[in-house]
Amino acid sequence: MKIIASNFKTNHTRKSTLSFCEELEKFITQKKAQNQSFAHQIALFPPQSALLDNHFKSFQIGAQNAYPTQNGSYTGEIGLEQLAEFGIQTLLIGHSERREILKESQSFCAEKFKFFSNLGFKIYYCIGESQTIKQQGNKAVLEFLESQLEGIDLNYSNLVIAYEPIWAIGSGVSATLEEITQIHTHLKQKLGKIPLLYGGSVKPQNVREILSLEGVDGVLVGSASWEISSFCQILENSL
Ligand code: 13P
Repeated sequence: MKIIASNFKTNHTRKSTLSFCEELEKFITQKKAQNQSFAHQIALFPPQSALLDNHFKSFQIGAQNAYPTQNGSYTGEIGLEQLAEFGIQTLLIGHSERREILKESQSFCAEKFKFFSNLGFKIYYCIGESQTIKQQGNKAVLEFLESQLEGIDLNYSNLVIAYEPIWAIGSGVSATLEEITQIHTHLKQKLGKIPLLYGGSVKPQNVREILSLEGVDGVLVGSASWEISSFCQILENSL
């Protein structure tokens, strides 16, 4: 069993998300009927404006972001009350685009983690180094990744970690199999049983070999998951 997650980022509308979900449900139902070993855990992170009541049986719908509050005065943000309206109990925290572009600090990521883990949310927590840190060598990379786990309770049972090197995201070129193996092997020593995903230019053509690596429990996919046919191909190739 692998975890296959799709991050829509700032793509799709409410309408197109709904038709994506319907097609996905159909595809997975068919696959399960044909192949008993199709047992992936699948999660979808649409944009906030397209959050849906999850009446789909074969995958989870999560939010890409939320503010650690029940409600309040946080213009442009959504809190627990807004997530609850859609029954959302899955959340992405610490994506590099939020850390880099929106300047979310480690302490704020940890605050979000604390708030939503106390509520039992399933948390997909992202870590990943920039090209600049990669150039400083392996030791610097590992230290940086450790610093992104500060304040995160690694005994929390509903936690999934995604290693997404920033330099591989959206580049079309994933980290090499050797690079993924090296980082995942190291992280696994610290993370124990916590599922560890890889993200960064995962696509139908490379998903099988990435998932076959030791220490890779799944993938978090961006651009190659936005077209339903491509995401289904990823699922197909993940068997
Ligand atoms: P790409 O698959 O487009 O590289 O994006 C990865 C990612 O950021 C998923 O969260």
